[in-house]
Amino acid sequence: MQEIKFIKSENLKQKPKDISKVVFGTLFSDYMFSMDYEKDKGWINPTIEEYKDIPLSPSNSTLHYGQAIFEGMKAYKTVNGDVTVFRPLDHLNRLNRSARILDIPEIDVEFVKDALFKLVEIEKDWIPTEKGASLYIRPFIFSNDANLGVSVAKRYKFMIILSPVSAYYSAGFAPVKIMVEDKHVRAVIGGLGEAKTPANYAASLHAGVVAHQKGYHQVLWLDGVNRKYIEEVGSMNILFKIGGKIVTPALSGSILDGITRKTVLEIAKSWGYEVEERKISIDELCECYDNGSLEEVFGSGTAAVISPVGELLYKDKKMVINDGKVSDFSLKMFNYITSLQQGTEKDNFGFVAKV
Ligand code: COI
Repeated sequence: MQEIKFIKSENLKQKPKDISKVVFGTLFSDYMFSMDYEKDKGWINPTIEEYKDIPLSPSNSTLHYGQAIFEGMKAYKTVNGDVTVFRPLDHLNRLNRSARILDIPEIDVEFVKDALFKLVEIEKDWIPTEKGASLYIRPFIFSNDANLGVSVAKRYKFMIILSPVSAYYSAGFAPVKIMVEDKHVRAVIGGLGEAKTPANYAASLHAGVVAHQKGYHQVLWLDGVNRKYIEEVGSMNILFKIGGKIVTPALSGSILDGITRKTVLEIAKSWGYEVEERKISIDELCECYDNGSLEEVFGSGTAAVISPVGELLYKDKKMVINDGKVSDFSLKMFNYITSLQQGTEKDNFGFVAKV
């Protein structure tokens, strides 16, 4: 195991007084972790130092060709004062799955978990304790060659930065309005859809702007070939409660294998719900809406946690879910997951890792 170098900072920042006023992803803690990769040396120089801007060549390969991946996870301070991280190994293993898709060198998951825990321990005073708030952890890897040739890079940088956050959507835990996107596509099977890579988010930006102009928070993507089967929202996976069952699109290769999605399905099964991971077409969803069997729609994600959907727009069909109000299952799931995270509910699943 390599030793992690720690460089003490003299520039410690003020912590926020009211976390609910901090816009998601705009404030960062005092320290960050980084290490470099060189083709013949592997991952080297693991360091924790002051969070600061980094020097970048104008010909940095990520800026031009986007060979990069990231993760999003969260740290909590429980009611007993323990510092915990939610499902860290699931996240780091998924980072390695994304790495394989983009030909990025994999990380040593155990080493990075230890580095992450060390960073979170140093920064534990940055963890907000309000319900639904946490210290968001953003590990990422980008190619770091100074080279305009289109090829897999020889050098990479891995970093972890930390950001205290509350609700992802400015409305807090309130139903969001989602527009079903039938023109643009996010990903196709065989492409990058299941990797957590900037390209998927870049592909979603324009559709997001159009949706915002129409008064919607996000778009719901349909499959890129038939424009028929429901995929994901981009910032979160999507789940439905239909006739008492929890239904969500199966992992097709073009959607993200969400850790919160998996968490919801495991908890729902333990509560006795029937869970279906399958293809679900937008026509079937409209039919379920019309015949009254579509009871709830909600998103799941690390940043979003559980986000109830109050309205779906598909072409000119407006579907108002549960009168646009927060519905029972979503609320129960949100409360249960946040209680596990805050340590007020016993974790029988092994989701919570103590730092
Ligand atoms: C996360 O939920 O961690 C994500 O990466 C989504 C991002 C849009 C904030």
